[in-house]
Amino acid sequence: MKKVTSLLALLLVFASQAQLNDLRSPTLQELPDSLHKRDLIELSEIFNTDKQPSLHNFIDLYNRYLTPLQDSVHRILEIGIFNGASHKMWKCYFDSAEVYGIDIREKPWVEKLGIHTYLANQANREDLQTFVDSSGGNFDVIIDDGGHYMDHQQVSLGFLFEHLSEGGLYIIEDVHTSLPAYYDGFGRDSTLSNTTLKIFTDYIMNEDIESVYMTKEEKVYMETWIEYIEIYKRKNSMHSTAVVIRKKKKR
Ligand SMILES: C[S@@+](CC[C@H](N)C(=O)[O-])C[C@H]1O[C@@H](n2cnc3c(N)ncnc32)[C@H](O)[C@@H]1O
Repeated sequence: MKKVTSLLALLLVFASQAQLNDLRSPTLQELPDSLHKRDLIELSEIFNTDKQPSLHNFIDLYNRYLTPLQDSVHRILEIGIFNGASHKMWKCYFDSAEVYGIDIREKPWVEKLGIHTYLANQANREDLQTFVDSSGGNFDVIIDDGGHYMDHQQVSLGFLFEHLSEGGLYIIEDVHTSLPAYYDGFGRDSTLSNTTLKIFTDYIMNEDIESVYMTKEEKVYMETWIEYIEIYKRKNSMHSTAVVIRKKKKR
């Protein structure tokens, strides 16, 4: 009897692993209704995004910020699609929202699931303008999980902050690429004067936005419209750091 039970348990593990592989596969035809509105942490694990607790654990941040907004988010953009894991997660979690993604590579298997995907370089204002013209902008939530270079993060923030709805949230993941002790490259200059993290630590000191990658108008717009920022740092092997910026509701 014992042997039969453990064989059954083994078969169940294989069956659920096979189901997970299906959900994560590019051949997935549609997102199952059974996943809609499931717990956000659980969804991050089901789809295997690197936001999940065992990796960057940014899902902890999203859980705090986005769970209260589950029924009020109508338009969400995430820069950086990769295999589509997090876009699938948002599509399941925000039942009635339109989910958008931009990437420098085509993602037809993600588009097929009802997620709007656009080919665009996040560091190129013309690409971003074409994307906004075509999508209509006005996002309730914008997440930057793209290339993580200093110019990528800052051009996108400067350009797209204006296209965030009033009271909306702009979240930049992987701001740890500003930290030379842990990450090589990513377009930092030798004096670290151009890092994305510095924009926010300086903002805390003097309430000015300074970035060599933003226009004067973009910087003034941000200074006028930022309600608050939060710098999030998790002490794990990846030194996971993110920034949340909330836009004011009324001037
Ligand atoms: C970390 S992956 C995204 C992971 C995904 N958001 C998730 O959580 O499952 C980064 C993605 O950003 C894209 N990327 C890199 N540079 C980019 C750029 N300049 N503009 C837009 N996307 C870029 C890459 O092609 C890659 O698909």
